[in-house]
Amino acid sequence: MQINSFDEYQKVYKQSVEQPEEFWAGIADTFKWRKKWDKVLSWNFSEPNIKWFEGGKLNITENCLDRHLEKNGDKPAIIWESNDPEKDSVTLTYKILHEQVCRFANVLKKNHVKKGDRVCIYMPMVPELAVAVLACARIGAVHSVVFGGFSAKSIADRINDAQCKLVITADGAFRGAKQIQLKEVIDDALIGCPSVEKVIVLTHTRTPVSMLKGRDLWFEDEIKLVDTYCPAEEMDAEDMLFILYTSGSTGKPKGVVHTVGGYMVYAGYTFSTAFNYQPDEIFFCTADIGWITGHSYIVYGPLSQGATTLMFEGVPTYPTPARLWEVVDKHKVNILYTAPTAIRSLMGFGNEPVDGADLSSLRVLGSVGEPINEEAWHWFDEHVGKKKCPIVDTWWQTETGGLMISPIAFVTPTKPSYATLPLPGVQPVLVDEQGNIIEGNDVSGNLCIKFPWPGMLRTTYGDHERCKLTYFSTYENLYFTGDGCLRDADGYYKITGRVDDVINVSGHRIGTAEVENAINMHAGVVESAVVGYPHDVKGQGIYAFVIFPNPHSDADLSRKDILQTVTRVIGAIAKPDKILFVSGLPKTRSGKIMRRILRKIAEGDTSNLGDISTLQDPGVVDEIIDKARQL
Ligand code: WT7
Repeated sequence: MQINSFDEYQKVYKQSVEQPEEFWAGIADTFKWRKKWDKVLSWNFSEPNIKWFEGGKLNITENCLDRHLEKNGDKPAIIWESNDPEKDSVTLTYKILHEQVCRFANVLKKNHVKKGDRVCIYMPMVPELAVAVLACARIGAVHSVVFGGFSAKSIADRINDAQCKLVITADGAFRGAKQIQLKEVIDDALIGCPSVEKVIVLTHTRTPVSMLKGRDLWFEDEIKLVDTYCPAEEMDAEDMLFILYTSGSTGKPKGVVHTVGGYMVYAGYTFSTAFNYQPDEIFFCTADIGWITGHSYIVYGPLSQGATTLMFEGVPTYPTPARLWEVVDKHKVNILYTAPTAIRSLMGFGNEPVDGADLSSLRVLGSVGEPINEEAWHWFDEHVGKKKCPIVDTWWQTETGGLMISPIAFVTPTKPSYATLPLPGVQPVLVDEQGNIIEGNDVSGNLCIKFPWPGMLRTTYGDHERCKLTYFSTYENLYFTGDGCLRDADGYYKITGRVDDVINVSGHRIGTAEVENAINMHAGVVESAVVGYPHDVKGQGIYAFVIFPNPHSDADLSRKDILQTVTRVIGAIAKPDKILFVSGLPKTRSGKIMRRILRKIAEGDTSNLGDISTLQDPGVVDEIIDKARQL
């Protein structure tokens, strides 16, 4: 949908709230359905039970591929840029992508993957990753993509939770100057994964790998043995499309489930609306497909709209801090969608790299993943957008499937560090601690959504109760986001950050309990408490307070051992930035850790710790403050 003026936005928004079903039916009509739905929406937030476009039949890949072939078969669907600037880029037209997806879908079928089976994908950012994802969708298999930074144990937990039958991986991945041995990690993971029957391995880094007889197959060999066409499986709108694991307040990540019809409609609608995508433009989202941003805005959103999506294997600062700008100029990118952490890290290299680039192709900029601070917003606006590109600061979550609160480019007047206003179809509310809805402006509270939208999660895989408890039980009849938020005098929304035990490190969600569990697995550790603290580049850093009675005489060695443990248990992305050895933790008499106090200490603000008289041992606080100063 394209909205052309703020007036029009307000009209469309009003209609979307007054007649949501008509509104969403109108959007859904712009997609290709084998059979139209019987009912647009049925829902309750108490179970919860949410169904969009019930009775509708479709396949999302017919929307992302087949329907573009006649008019746009030769249009680039995916442009791939390597980690290595010397390497040629690769362009897959819609016709070529269609054929590759069909072929790989046939490979999956040949290896006995059927509709409803779960497939784990652990791959580098190469076109074959998008092909693998779409091939699953083609035959109705459920993909569970795991980010390349997770450890063998994390992968094993995810594979077992979803009972995956097949794994798609590669020998290795390049990320900047680093190489990740993906197949080796998978081999370690699969020691404890009896459900996996086959592993398909793509050659990419050409690192030696061990191929297990009867289980492991080469991608390149398999693809030669199959037909170039594969009919798309007919799916119900509410059939499962994918599972994506994300962290929460408890130790175990949960598998967020998205379904075919609603997710497709929502990803496509938000993509075309918020970014104001124009035919023939190049859209560049810098996320990894291992996260929801990559699912929705590298793969499904752009392709469903017949857009050209740029996929970048590397990192913004390798081999030089000008790399991201070189990629933008090389491919004449029109829309650049990135994260505050990337912007801040690039800012750290000064203005020379960015000011030396042309960047005149850019028309729209986007930000996602965490609150963007005003300094980074202005730098992005001035040095990247040259003050002529609107910045869409898009607030959303793995669970929401697509953008929720975001400016519409060229339509919504922006305000630095504000996600601004809800997209049409989205009904946010702020609530106080008791769950009362806070009306009016110039207020703050916890952010909830009071009406369903097609892209919302339907369940958490294998544990519906957990979905209900996490999102629908804190406040009655509301979806609770876990975010704090303010609504200013103009009715504009500004997300202030998580209000639960989740930290947002470089735009990646990490549960404090998960990191604590990992640290506690180290033999020398008695107990630990993990909190977030403000970090100049990452947004938030991970601060661990650890009871470790007998550290090595070189305490740094013990710290490194802990980092190694966390890397093994979760992955390098969860490594604490700071580790403080303490003899006790501030606990209430009932034994609950008072994280509020630790958060203050981690922030370096010990002026007002509040009432600590109810602690088991108030003396421990002084000790911690003292040690923290010396760290
Ligand atoms: C959490 C969701 C959505 C894709 C990336 C992260 C934070 C996300 C913004 C934004 C302020 C933001 C929230 C949210 N967040 N976008 N524009 N401004 N905060 O997905 O891992 O599911 O994390 O990221 O805290 O709840 P995720």
